Amino acid sequence: MLNSTELRNKYLEFFRSKGHTVIPSASLIPENDPTVLFTTAGMQPLVPYLLGQRHPGGRRLTDVQKCVRTGDIDEVGDDTHCTFFEMLGNWSLGDYFKQESIAWSYEFLTKELGISPEKLAVTVFRGDEDCPRDEEAAAVWKKMGIPAERIFYLPKENNWWIAGATGPCGEDTEIFYIDDEKEGDSPADDGGKYVEIWNNVFMHYYKHADGRLTELEQKNVDTGMGLERTLMTLNGYSSVYDTDVLRPVCELLRGKVSCPSEEAERAVRIIADHTRTATFILGDPRGVSPSNVDRGYILRRLIRRAVRYARGIGLDASVLTECAAKFIAIYGDFYTELKDNSEKILEELRLETEKFDKTLHQGLKEFEKLLGYIKDNRISGKAAFKLYDTYGFPPEMTLELSREHGVTVDMEGFERAFNEHQQKSKAGAEQKFKGGLSDSGVETTRLHTATHLLMEALRRTLSDPNIMQKGSNITPERLRLDFNFPRPLTEEEIKAVEEKVNEAIAAAVPVTCEEMTPDEAHASGAVGVFGDRYGDVVKVYTMGNYSKEICGGPHAANTGELGHFKIVKEQSSSAGVRRIKAVLEAK
Ligand code: SER
Repeated sequence: MLNSTELRNKYLEFFRSKGHTVIPSASLIPENDPTVLFTTAGMQPLVPYLLGQRHPGGRRLTDVQKCVRTGDIDEVGDDTHCTFFEMLGNWSLGDYFKQESIAWSYEFLTKELGISPEKLAVTVFRGDEDCPRDEEAAAVWKKMGIPAERIFYLPKENNWWIAGATGPCGEDTEIFYIDDEKEGDSPADDGGKYVEIWNNVFMHYYKHADGRLTELEQKNVDTGMGLERTLMTLNGYSSVYDTDVLRPVCELLRGKVSCPSEEAERAVRIIADHTRTATFILGDPRGVSPSNVDRGYILRRLIRRAVRYARGIGLDASVLTECAAKFIAIYGDFYTELKDNSEKILEELRLETEKFDKTLHQGLKEFEKLLGYIKDNRISGKAAFKLYDTYGFPPEMTLELSREHGVTVDMEGFERAFNEHQQKSKAGAEQKFKGGLSDSGVETTRLHTATHLLMEALRRTLSDPNIMQKGSNITPERLRLDFNFPRPLTEEEIKAVEEKVNEAIAAAVPVTCEEMTPDEAHASGAVGVFGDRYGDVVKVYTMGNYSKEICGGPHAANTGELGHFKIVKEQSSSAGVRRIKAVLEAK
């Protein structure tokens, strides 16, 4: 028996002994890659280095990377799918290539993990007009002792790897564990006989947007081994939910189920999986909170889906926080951020589950009612929008419920209803905002401009680009700003923030405003809420190099008008949220 801690340690130690530098798991929220919402593979944070940039750790790296993939969310509940998983990986950045990569994988599996060579099968690239048949990899496998009948040549569909549509890529060789109790002719079919445990990608091409492949300057290796699947295989478990990272939570849930059934077991797995993913997203150093856009939306969907499944098997929604506390204990020694952020994780989870739990029951009743009078087995866009707007049902949940009942949903109608609502509330908000500020005039306008400078000064001083406004209230006398941050600011930090704002004021830069689409705003580096697929035009206010933010305005014409900025209070507002009160004094 091998547990997760032993497997992580063995892996990292083995590759350290082969000259690799052990690097920490990168954030789940990609830092420099706006094309993906979450880190989905170990190679993702390493793309610049695969393309030739020098990595401080050298040319051989190894790590355990936390990954989130939600593409297969509907499969979660079976034996092997999860929305979160850990990937053990090793990389050659223009250093070793196929020979060493394959030899070390073989050595690790057979010597370190003690897998019998007879239990291994591999696939290599069959070759096509882009890239030749991979006889080189096959020859190395043969040298290792894998007989020809266990080396399968497969097409691009199976033996080619790229993270998205463009980027570094290449042929790969995949390693499978043979489960003799199951049926299957080749690793390409789905009989379950061949369980993929490791993928070694030979990244030496770059795929361009026009589909062209060009050779990279360096030949890289990118390997990835799924921790949960490997543990399952090594220990002879029938599901990843039996591994030591998931079993305790599944057991906690099973202990509360009054009528065990296949359905209940599926629900248990879904709740465990989604809560684990939510725990890691909330607890990430660059973590986000549930919201209606982007990553926050995925997080919200996961939590709400878990609540629905919990309720479905008669469990209280608060069971999610119990599960999260268990996950923090299971993972906290290796992923210390979970311990550091445990309060935030549990509090955010509690808030979101409570919020949804209040409306879920009513929403489900409304859904049942709908089933009674819909026409053509189709739920109208308007009805789906009501479920979203009034009861907090993510549209994907309405779709899923509908599928379960054999009815469809008019999603186009949903989008139309959503758009109409957005337009109306935007107009309303602008009206309110104008009214609010025109009442109090020039002082509030200046304080509003100071709020933008303060936001950016906080991000820069605390080196955290994820700091966002959580609330703002401006009177003619002072500004009040709430923002996410886990601890009180030190005196030095407060001073540094004040200095930054005053520097921007001293620079007397003009405040300019441009209208653009949210995408353009994002590309321009403006701060704000992005990925809102329903938005049209936003205003972006720029203050020299000191601030760029999406906002309705109005603002002072020049930062020089503001006077001397002073923070008068820094205190807690709620869990994970700080509050600053500040004034502008006459210079
Ligand atoms: N990038 C490859 C994968 O995700 C190997 O790490 O499978």
